[in-house]
Amino acid sequence: MSDGNGFLLHVDSSADRRGEVSVTRRLTGMFARSWRERHGGAGYRYRDLVAEPVPLVGSGYVGLGTRVERQGVVPLEKVAALAEGAEEEREWALTLPLVSELREAGTVLLGVPMYNFGVPAALKAWIDRVSFPGAYTDPDSGRPLLGGTRVVVVAACGGGYGPGTPRADCDFQVPYLRAYFGELGVAEDALHIVRAELTRAGDMPGLARFQGLAAESLTAAEEAVAGLAARP
Ligand SMILES: Cc1cc2nc3c(=O)[nH]c(=O)nc-3n(C[C@H](O)[C@H](O)[C@H](O)COP(=O)(O)O)c2cc1C
Repeated sequence: MSDGNGFLLHVDSSADRRGEVSVTRRLTGMFARSWRERHGGAGYRYRDLVAEPVPLVGSGYVGLGTRVERQGVVPLEKVAALAEGAEEEREWALTLPLVSELREAGTVLLGVPMYNFGVPAALKAWIDRVSFPGAYTDPDSGRPLLGGTRVVVVAACGGGYGPGTPRADCDFQVPYLRAYFGELGVAEDALHIVRAELTRAGDMPGLARFQGLAAESLTAAEEAVAGLAARP
């Protein structure tokens, strides 16, 4: 369970693994560097979901998860005893370390590009796996275990999705992440979402006229990330 002072779990999901053009990788990298300067490197964990993809959940995950759900909230250490067969055991072996890592993190830093209006499949695979039934609820009190966890989402999108823009209704990235982490029990004031918009304005002729707005959005995102990184 997080006490708000635990380690930093840094998760990147941009397919631009070399980081040549990735805005999210550059900005999460900035945050992480600043965090390590303040807290030292010992409490820092990095997970690159593109370099090391999380396997998609399979039927063993569903079978075990359903059995667990029928029992209400099962403490993590008792889940293994409910696994039936090698497939469920394998799925649990893949799941438990990721769930434990998320539960123990004081700050979770996520780099999230918009892909086809939503989040990258690499991130969704991690989300599906870590969201094991009951894993973020205290079995005794029923209270959320991530109530003290800070989540910083650094998002980017090639186009613009602000209120009143033609594609405003197509944003399934930020509203999705807000709903997801809210459901997981992260406190509203501990969830910080920063997004750089119009990141493709310099490459796509159709967006060229928005280059000024893109630069403003990027500067605002850089400042917001620096501000969040400077907080205790
Ligand atoms: C597979 C793919 C799908 C994309 N889909 C969208 C999209 O639906 N809407 C959008 O605004 N930008 C889209 N983009 C552009 C990215 O959101 C944009 O380049 C962003 O900066 C990517 O994050 P990164 O710079 O950290 O790699 C897409 C890019 C890729 C590679």
